[in-house]
Amino acid sequence: MSGARITPSILSADFSRLGDEVAMLEQAGADWIHVDVMDGRFVPNLTFGAKVIEALRRRTALPLDVHLMVVEPERYFDDFAAAGASGMTIHAEVAPHLHRQLARIRELGCSAGVAINPSTPLAAVQEVLGDLDLLLIMSVNPGFGGQTFIDASVDKLARARDMLDASRSSAALQVDGGINRETIGSAWRAGADTFVAGHAIFASTNPSAELAALRARCAHEA
Ligand code: DX5
Ligand code: ZN
Repeated sequence: MSGARITPSILSADFSRLGDEVAMLEQAGADWIHVDVMDGRFVPNLTFGAKVIEALRRRTALPLDVHLMVVEPERYFDDFAAAGASGMTIHAEVAPHLHRQLARIRELGCSAGVAINPSTPLAAVQEVLGDLDLLLIMSVNPGFGGQTFIDASVDKLARARDMLDASRSSAALQVDGGINRETIGSAWRAGADTFVAGHAIFASTNPSAELAALRARCAHEA
């Protein structure tokens, strides 16, 4: 794709007015809505499940990009797909049967993604490159919004880009964690095309302008 895909994370939204927050993101030109599902086991935090995905689905036509930071993610595939998830991304660290799990996500009509933590080598996804629609490189240790971007992620993104290109994969290369005006440019130049941003957008006094500024950083630094 030519421009950056901006996928705001509602983890930093005001949950008491989630519907309005999503409407605001849609108005601001968000490409997808990133939904962080946490189970208090894979990561030390709890967020939301199928009921919230269903409520979001009723409120927006934008793709719902669901990031499962949970153990045994396959337990949720059917419910999340029925609730209206557009894509589901699972963590390689808790997916011993990655090939089968990705196939199941696609069977349910969703895009299939794999995420890897900062300490997980890219080799963890080498054998399933043909089976995924999205590769997510975590640029923080997952669990919380508002953390600092890990600089070593830039080199990892560049290697991920080479790996996808070498296998002629058209999968999206997403980066998640600590993305802001200062960090997005280097991630874009390294080859990422899809950017999660939570804190940067929601902590801004003008979230809509912030989203545009993030996108502009990519356009200018291409
Ligand atoms: C981290 C989540 C992220 C998080 C990103 O565990 O997967 O999606 O919301 O938030 P920021 O942009 O605040 O780092
Ligand atoms: Zn996420």
